[in-house]
Amino acid sequence: MTPPSDPHAILDAELLRGRELVAAAGSLEALEEAETSALGRKAPLAGVQRSLGELPDDVRREVGRRTNEVREALRAAVADRRGELEAARDASLALADRIDVTLPGRRLRPGSLNPLTIVEYQIVDVFTRMGYRVVEGPEIETDWYNFQALNIPPDHPARSEKDTLFLDVPGNPDLLLRTETSAIQIRTMEQQQPPVYVIAPGRVFRQDTPDPTHTPVFHQVEGLAVDEGITMADLKGTLASFARAMFGEDTRIRFIPDFFPFVEPGVELAVTCFVCHGTGCRTCKQEGWIELAGAGMVHPNVLRAVGYDPERYTGFAFGMGIERVAMPVFGISDIRLFYDNDVRFLGQFEGVAAAR
Ligand code: PHE
Repeated sequence: MTPPSDPHAILDAELLRGRELVAAAGSLEALEEAETSALGRKAPLAGVQRSLGELPDDVRREVGRRTNEVREALRAAVADRRGELEAARDASLALADRIDVTLPGRRLRPGSLNPLTIVEYQIVDVFTRMGYRVVEGPEIETDWYNFQALNIPPDHPARSEKDTLFLDVPGNPDLLLRTETSAIQIRTMEQQQPPVYVIAPGRVFRQDTPDPTHTPVFHQVEGLAVDEGITMADLKGTLASFARAMFGEDTRIRFIPDFFPFVEPGVELAVTCFVCHGTGCRTCKQEGWIELAGAGMVHPNVLRAVGYDPERYTGFAFGMGIERVAMPVFGISDIRLFYDNDVRFLGQFEGVAAAR
C-alpha cells in the first residue's frame, strides 16, 4: 500500500469530518453509521493506521501518535453523543408512559339487560311473590314431553314439520327443539306430587321466517298450578292480579274461548291496552286490548299422562309470549331488534329497573 501523500492533512480532515458526523447524528442508529464511517475498517483513519509501517522512522512515530489522538477524540465524541441520545430516548419514553394522577378516572360503562330479560324478570317476579317456584327445562325435547304427554296425538297439525324443528340425530328420531314451554309442565309434574305452583321461563323454537312479528326463536313464560279444588275462577283471578301488578291497577283482563290440546276449556288472555287504557291507540291497533297469552284448565289426559288422579286434582296453565309483552311495553315495533345485538338499541335500556 502506498503511504498517503500527507498523513497529517488526512488526520486533520478526518477529525473534523468525524466530529461533524457525530454531532449531526439525530438518533442512535444514525450515530452508529457515523461511527462506522469515521472509525470503521474502511475509514480513511484506518487507512493511515495501516500505512504507518511504510513511513520513514522519523515521521512514523509522530503520525502514529496523532492517529491515536484522533481515534481517541472521535471515540470520546461518539460516547458523549451516545449518552445524549440515550438520555433523550429515555426521557421521551418516560413522557409517553407518565401517569397523571390528577386526571379523572375512566368511567366504566355498565352493560344493560336485554329488554326481553327485563320483562322476563318482571313477569317471574310477580308470580314468585304469589308463591310460585321457578323451574326450567331443556330446549331439546322429546316427542313425549313436547307432544304426546300434552295430549297432542301423532296426527295433530301442531306437530307438522311446518312448525316444529326436528333434530337429525341418528338413532334418536324423537328429538326436537321445544315449540312451547308447556313441555316443562310435564317434566315438573313427573317429578313431584301436587300441590304444584310453578312458573317456567324459556326459549322456544318454531320454523318461522323472520319478519317484524316473527322470529324462529322466541320466549315464553309458562305457569302451572295443580291442586285440589282449583277452578277457572282461580285462573282468572290469578291472571287478573298478575295484569294489575305488571301493567297498573286499572288494568282489566278478557278471556276469549280458544283451543289448545292440553287444556279444556282453553282461552286466549288479553289485557286492556296499557298505553290508551282501552280507548284505542296505535299500540293496540285501535282495539283497546292486547293479546298476551294462551291459558286454560289442565286437560284430564295431561294429568293422567303424569300419573295424577284427575278425579282428585284439577289445575290451570298459561303460556305467555315475552316478546308479546315487551313490544308494547317498550314501544318496539320490530321483534327482530331484540336479537340484532345492536348496542344502539340495547343501550336504551340501561338503568331500566328489572325486579329481582
Ligand atoms: N303453549 C301455548 C302456546 O304456545 C300457550 C298455552 C300454555 C296455552 C298453557 C294454554 C296453556 O301458544
